[in-house]
Amino acid sequence: MQARIVTLPGDGIGPEIVAEAVRVLTRVAANCGHQFTFEEALMGGCAIDATGTSLPTETLAACESADAVLLGAVGGPQWSDPTAAVRPEQGLLQLRQHFDLFANLRPVKTYPVLAQHAPLRAELIAGVDILFVRELTSGIYFGERMEQGEGDHAWDTMFYTVEQVRRVARVAFEAARGRQGKVASVDKANVLASMRLWRRTVNEVARDYPDVELEHVLVDACAMYLMRNPARFDVVLAGNMFGDILSDETSVLAGSLGMLPSASLNNGRFGVYEPIHGSAPDIAGQGIANPIATILSAALLLRHSLQLEAEAAAVEAAVEAALASGARTADLAPVPAEAVSTTAFTDLVLDHLH
Ligand code: IPM
Ligand code: MG
Repeated sequence: MQARIVTLPGDGIGPEIVAEAVRVLTRVAANCGHQFTFEEALMGGCAIDATGTSLPTETLAACESADAVLLGAVGGPQWSDPTAAVRPEQGLLQLRQHFDLFANLRPVKTYPVLAQHAPLRAELIAGVDILFVRELTSGIYFGERMEQGEGDHAWDTMFYTVEQVRRVARVAFEAARGRQGKVASVDKANVLASMRLWRRTVNEVARDYPDVELEHVLVDACAMYLMRNPARFDVVLAGNMFGDILSDETSVLAGSLGMLPSASLNNGRFGVYEPIHGSAPDIAGQGIANPIATILSAALLLRHSLQLEAEAAAVEAAVEAALASGARTADLAPVPAEAVSTTAFTDLVLDHLH
């Protein structure tokens, strides 16, 4: 098949890890007879420096004509003033809104060979395989807000329509069907009106999925259960802000933030794929970043935007095989001197890619 992929390497370690994921995709294309073309565009701090805005119109235009977008990470100390008029994360939020990427998938899997790096006991994290489905284009992130310079008050609004909840809930229930058949819907229905609408709507959608088991979990309790017994969860469905918080909390179970990929999808096949970690400016340019999260994001791109399930699974298997060989990047190496570089780890992934 032919596919056009736009890469947005961004800032910090972004360019290093995106380059490795592109190498993996290029090898997949060669192995399986596909033609992938790559086009790089600016987003984030590097775009602010070059054009004054974090999501330039040329970047949006490039993404519009692409089948999928692979993003590195944005941000860094030089753009981190939260009161600045132009900030790197604005580009990310605009990209999500522009393409209506309402469904954010964040799989969290634990690898037995990395159990020693997780902050919980090995028996608690054994078999953890959670899929977060986070609503990404509404909720408190995009509700009305009021902020006046040095004013003495400010507010944000958590807003949901029935249709916004319905469509992301359907994504969660559909995903559960291909997994363990369980959805935990996260809300704060005991306090918030928008979350009562959330619960009511999820219940309504659940009627179309009698084969899927649904439980409602209040967000505070959910944060606790995720640490006490993470293996009990299958699909976790959450609104924008709660999903943001809980997915970061749970990511530590995988042993390193450098492990976790994500997909942000709209109703079509278009998606933006990115590691859930940030731009790690402290280690940028040293060639030591863990490329796994970005390589696994490329696997999600193959699966969801290009419908290449076998190729996606082959990439995931190659990452597992590379880990099983004992190679570790610096974030995971018990002895720093034994760590392999970003490129060397990817070489191993390529060796195992069939
Ligand atoms: C994420 C990030 C973003 C978010 C930030 C950078 C705006 O934390 O993708 O989880 O809060 O959505
Ligand atoms: Mg986040």
